[in-house]
Amino acid sequence: KIVILDFGSQYTQLIARKVRELNVYCEIYPYHSVPHLNADVKGVILSGSPHSVRDPKAPVPDLNQIKGRFPLLGICYGAQFLAHSFGGEVKPSDTREYGRAKLEFIDRKNELMTGVSDQSQVWMSHGDTIAQLPDKYRIIASTADVKVAAYEVSDEQTWGLQFHPEVYHSTDGKTILFNFVATICGCKQDWTPGSFVDTTVKELKTKLGNDKVVLGLSGGVDSTVAGVLLNKAIHDNLTCIFVDNGLLRKNEFQTVLDSYKHMGLNVIGVDARKHFLDALAGVSDPETKRKIIGRVFIEVFDREAHKIQNVKWLAQGTIYPDVIESVSVNGPSATIKSHHNVGGLPEEMNLKVVEPLNLLFKDEVRRVGKALGISPALLGRHPFPGPGLAIRILGDITQEKIDILQQVDHIFIQGLKDNELYDRVWQAGAMLLPVQSVGVMGDERTYERVVALRAVESTDGMTADWVHLPYEFLAKVSNDIINKVKGVNRVVYDISSKPPATIEWE
Ligand code: XMP
Repeated sequence: KIVILDFGSQYTQLIARKVRELNVYCEIYPYHSVPHLNADVKGVILSGSPHSVRDPKAPVPDLNQIKGRFPLLGICYGAQFLAHSFGGEVKPSDTREYGRAKLEFIDRKNELMTGVSDQSQVWMSHGDTIAQLPDKYRIIASTADVKVAAYEVSDEQTWGLQFHPEVYHSTDGKTILFNFVATICGCKQDWTPGSFVDTTVKELKTKLGNDKVVLGLSGGVDSTVAGVLLNKAIHDNLTCIFVDNGLLRKNEFQTVLDSYKHMGLNVIGVDARKHFLDALAGVSDPETKRKIIGRVFIEVFDREAHKIQNVKWLAQGTIYPDVIESVSVNGPSATIKSHHNVGGLPEEMNLKVVEPLNLLFKDEVRRVGKALGISPALLGRHPFPGPGLAIRILGDITQEKIDILQQVDHIFIQGLKDNELYDRVWQAGAMLLPVQSVGVMGDERTYERVVALRAVESTDGMTADWVHLPYEFLAKVSNDIINKVKGVNRVVYDISSKPPATIEWE
């Protein structure tokens, strides 16, 4: 495997994903807590950083067990650190170098640069520049403005890149990363979804033996893939619990429950609609709604789990981005919304925790799901928040409002599917607003509800842009909603991006 040391760059996870796309396994560690590296490690990459190496607070790794011992590649800050700390000089650049540049000089005889094309485009993003390299360091690529765009150290396996090979705009970035991980480090490119399934199933068998395991299914991609993977390893020793909180999409509970059964999962469907609705009665505050839903979920799940004899483990669909200990540069961030509504489960239940997906990125979970034979329709589903429609009904929640919103949402989502727009959208849904507006139907004045439709493009939900859905489509959906859903006389489309808006309205 490859080890990546993180210095807090926004691109660190991207480096990891690009390495994994080459079917090479890698792990990210904060620069200050690197474990002892054994022979499984074939090479090390140093990430970029928002800091300057000249900054008194700059992150300083201990490279004693690394430099000169393992093949080493410094990227951006990593490259500057390797120059600065071993006798070179890093200075602020005259102009901040940001964006596309072209490699004017390339030493293709160097193993790292083999196969890189003439005038190859690279992506720069740095305020400092390497003015002087230490002895034994040698330039292997330059752009017009950046003389030291890439270097090697002559008597050890160490390289530095001032540009970012991991970003899409570096057109030969993949070749360079391939040269490093495959040619230089000698990693076999055998880490595939299929091999992940085989090894994980074996490991789960050993770890769990004949123990009983319980897993909460949500209908989402992560818990489904975790369920199918565990089922492959321990079969009927896995019991899945799928709770109907009454806040799911129209027909969702039954459809998803049926598909779980179809996949051979041992699943208990729990109708807890009344429990949730009673607990939410009269509550309007978004964070209070989330807390209530989280608490009731734990109560219901706990009660069901206790019915299973001798259960020892709680399985969860946690994925890698949730477990990477990120190097924070801006200090602790403010809680905008409390997302993780099942966070309290393990401590309260006294069960050991097993998380078979905690090494995977989201796109890898989908590929593993595909390798496991899970249907593309299930794997391609939009994200849906744990508290469901409760945070899309602004104000207090009643059964009548849920019914209205389910119908509206269904027309919108089905419309997206029928018009082949569903897969072009990252997430979509409808909000029921706490206002009424005047309308006219026939000769009658109406005074009814307003709904807002939202569709966004995103990669991870951290930032998002509203989707420019075709006017004809919006017109048709709006018409259908007003004609078919009793109680709604106005439809609006949300054209705000995140930030400063968020995806959900609550
Ligand atoms: P926001 O509204 O914060 O949403 O821009 C980002 C992503 O997170 C989802 N979301 C939630 N998911 N529990 C969840 O499990 C929550 O309380 C919650 N709130 C927002 C949202 O649907 C979007 O995908």
